[in-house]
Formats: sequence, structure tokens, C-alpha cells
Amino acid sequence: MKVEVKQVEPGESGAELVVVGLTEGAELTAAIADAPGAGEVKSGFKKLSLLRPQGFPPVLVVGLGSREELDAERLRVAAAVAAKEAGRLEAASLAWALPDDDPAAAEALVTGTILAGYRFDRFKSGNGGDSPRLESLTLLGPAELAPSAELARVAAEAQNRARDLQSTPANVATPTFLAERAEEIAAGFDSVSAEVLGRPEIEAKKMGGLLAVSQGGPQEPKLIVLRYSGGGSGPTLGLVGKGVTFDTGGISLKPGAGMPDMKMDMSGAAAVLEAVAAIAELELPLDLIAVVPSTENMPSGTAIKPGDVITQYNGVTVEVNNTDAEGRLILADALAYAIELGAERIVDLATLTGAVTIALGSTYAAVIANDDALAAEVSEAGERSGELVWRLPLHPEYKELMKGKFADLSNLASKRKAGTITAGSFLEEFVDGTPWAHVDIAGTAWDVGRPYVGNGASGFGVRLLVELARQSAA
Ligand code: BES
Ligand code: MN
Ligand code: ZN
Repeated sequence: MKVEVKQVEPGESGAELVVVGLTEGAELTAAIADAPGAGEVKSGFKKLSLLRPQGFPPVLVVGLGSREELDAERLRVAAAVAAKEAGRLEAASLAWALPDDDPAAAEALVTGTILAGYRFDRFKSGNGGDSPRLESLTLLGPAELAPSAELARVAAEAQNRARDLQSTPANVATPTFLAERAEEIAAGFDSVSAEVLGRPEIEAKKMGGLLAVSQGGPQEPKLIVLRYSGGGSGPTLGLVGKGVTFDTGGISLKPGAGMPDMKMDMSGAAAVLEAVAAIAELELPLDLIAVVPSTENMPSGTAIKPGDVITQYNGVTVEVNNTDAEGRLILADALAYAIELGAERIVDLATLTGAVTIALGSTYAAVIANDDALAAEVSEAGERSGELVWRLPLHPEYKELMKGKFADLSNLASKRKAGTITAGSFLEEFVDGTPWAHVDIAGTAWDVGRPYVGNGASGFGVRLLVELARQSAA
């Protein structure tokens, strides 16, 4: 979407539809206050009123509620409500009269508008017949807001690309497909390079977790590495994303209901890859190493079986007591590898446990960290982006639950206690004390239901990571 900032009167913007946000107790500007119906406009949060002033483009008034409650999240929602209405009115261009000259407000409006306009219709025949898409957004405000608007545009468009990857069915979005996307990102920026390991290299490196999960199906696993060199003086940030392109559960097969959604088990990978693209596009001054382990998790005669013992990349042995707890096996190798490649602090994103949805729903992702400062930075990035995270604890007793009977570790906690935490606790065994934060996005990557992301793919994590990178680069 084309996004620009222009300091002009609403009637002069050239847009097909003008959106005006109205807080409670505020007045409409003189030019539109005379329009028929202007006396009845509603300022309650998310309330819409359409005005057709004389000699003026149509004006959509969006209620913003009370001044005190107005924050970036409410503006993202208001922008989404307005963008949806613009869609119904078939407007291709929209101008937003900003409620104030706050850069955070400009960011929120751009984010909400771009995310709300997302559709995935690649596999619908004749999708050209649908209503036209919103093509341009003009913020009516001072030019100083342009960098904020641009930052928000880049991040939100990256998030929509991550949503495309999530939504693409598993017969198309294979590990090879993700690797090709990574190579495409690297080809687009001089600052980014890609390296992809296939089965022979993964075997040679003895990445036993990724090999074990992939052995049940014919799709070749890929270990994808993207490096971004943006400079700056800070430590190298490692990003790791779970890339299970379809999770059947393997021999510990999942029930059939809901299984189609398991194409989204690569949401962490999608967020990491597209966040790297956004960070490169923004030329943020930091160095990144992104590692994405990618595979299917399939049942077959060659699949890993409950009770099998594997050896992870770092030499730790694991008893695979449930083949559906596959994410931690591939992440374990990837975390150890990212550290070997030079990551000095690491954040991983993974649709790791159903339990996180029971604990936090789709409102917060869980964050589990061995480092208070990094945990605080991730929380801060969550507050700023609206991609919220809530910290859960680590404790030696959780580690006890992950000890194996016949191997160093088990991939399944006894009695399935504290599902999200024990999964995180397992991962901690592979970071060797490096500052690390694990974000479990199983509840926030899909069917979130917020007005600006709706149901289906949310792209959760892209803006969180871009914010984190901005903070780290500052
Ligand atoms: N990919 C799933 C977690 C998941 C569940 C993601 C629902 C998105 C929606 C993960 O691999 C898994 O199956 N986890 C198991 C772990 C258990 C066997 C310890 C789970 O949560 O049931
Ligand atoms: Mn699973
Ligand atoms: Zn999974």
C-alpha cells in the first residue's frame, strides 16, 4: 500500500474517502460540521458515521471514545474499523485526519489500516472479481511524521507477508518453499545472506532433533540461516523460528478435528524470516543471525517412535516419549547452532504448546527467559507493538520434570505438568547460558480475533521483533 504524509486540509487530499477520528467531547471541524447528519455523529469507540458534506469527498467519522483511554491499540483498532468500512464503500484511497501529531498515533493508524486490509485469496479462482483493495493511505499531518509512517508500513507489510506464508497450505509451503523465500530475501538486500542446509548436511552435522522429526516423511528438511549485517555496536541478536510446515503429531497422531490448521506450525519461521526482511529494509544498525529449522512431522513406517532415543546437535540425548512434542527437538538443534554461529543473545518464536492457549488465550504470548534484561526488552517491545507477551517462570523443579528415564532428557513432562513452561525449560538446556527468551506463539499466531488481524493468520511476532531490533539498535 502507498503511504504518505501530507499537511493539507481534509478536502484537498485527493483521497476518495476522508476519515476523521472523533474523541468524546471534541467538535467536528467547520468544513464538515455543516454536513447533513453532522449533529448526530457518534464519538463512542468504534462507532461509525458517514457524512457527505457539500463540495467535499465523503467523510467517515470514527468514534475514538474518551481521550484518557485513547492509546496506540485503540488507534490500531479504529484504523481497522475504518479500513473495513472503506472496503465496503469500495474506496481505493483514504486520508486520515490524525487526532494529534504524535508519531505513535501515525504508526498505529498505518499498522491498523495495512493489517486490516489483508486477504488471502491466492487459491480462489477469479479473485479479481472481489471488491477493490485499498491502494493508498494519506496521513494528514506534519512531514515529521513520515519516518514513523514508513517504519509502520514496512513492518505491517512484512507481517502480511508472514501471514501469506502461514496461510499457504502445507502442500505448497514445504521446508523447501521456506528456504526459497529466505534466499529471495537475501537476494533482495546486500546486507543479507542466506545459507540452507539440506538433508545430507544436516546428517553430517548430526542435528539429531531435526533429522528425527523429518524421518517420517518425504519432504527434505531444511536448516535455514539468514545473516543480516547492519553494523552498530551492540551484541549479535539471534532469532530462531519453528518451521514445522505440517504437524500431524507423527506416531502420537493428533485428532482429525482442527488438523487442517496445523499448516500454521511454521508461524515462528514466518515471523522470523519476514522480520529479517523488514529490518533489512529499514537498515536498522544491528547484526542478526536467524536460524529456522524446517520439516514436516509425519507418521509412517520410517517415523520416529515413542520411546526412541536421539542425540541432539549439542550431544544431549533425548527420549522421545511423545512424537507430537516435536517443536522442541528441532529448536534444540537450532538454538545450539545459532550460538555456535555467533548469536550473543537469542529470541525464539514457536507455536510450541497448546497449553499456552489455555493459560493466556490469544491476548498474550508466553515468554520464558533465562535473563531478566532480555525478558524486559521483549515485554517492552510487546507493549509498543501491541503484540503482548507475559512472562512465565523457570524453576529447577520444572527441569526435574524433563529428566529422561533412559536418556538425559525426556521431551514430555510427567503428567503433562506446566506444559508451556516445561517446554521452555527443555529448550534452556540448549542455550548454554546465553541470554535467551523463548516466545510461545501457539495462541497468538492464528485466530486471534482482534479487529486488525481477524481470524486465520495473524503474523504475530513480526512487529514484536522489529521493535526489539529497534530497541537493540538504539
Ligand atoms: N504444534 C503443536 C502446538 C500447537 C497446538 C500449535 C495448537 C498450535 C495450535 C506442538 O507441536 C504440539 O503438538 N505440542 C503438544 C506438546 C505435548 C505433546 C507435550 C501439545 O501442546 O499438545
Ligand atoms: Mn506437535
Ligand atoms: Zn508442532
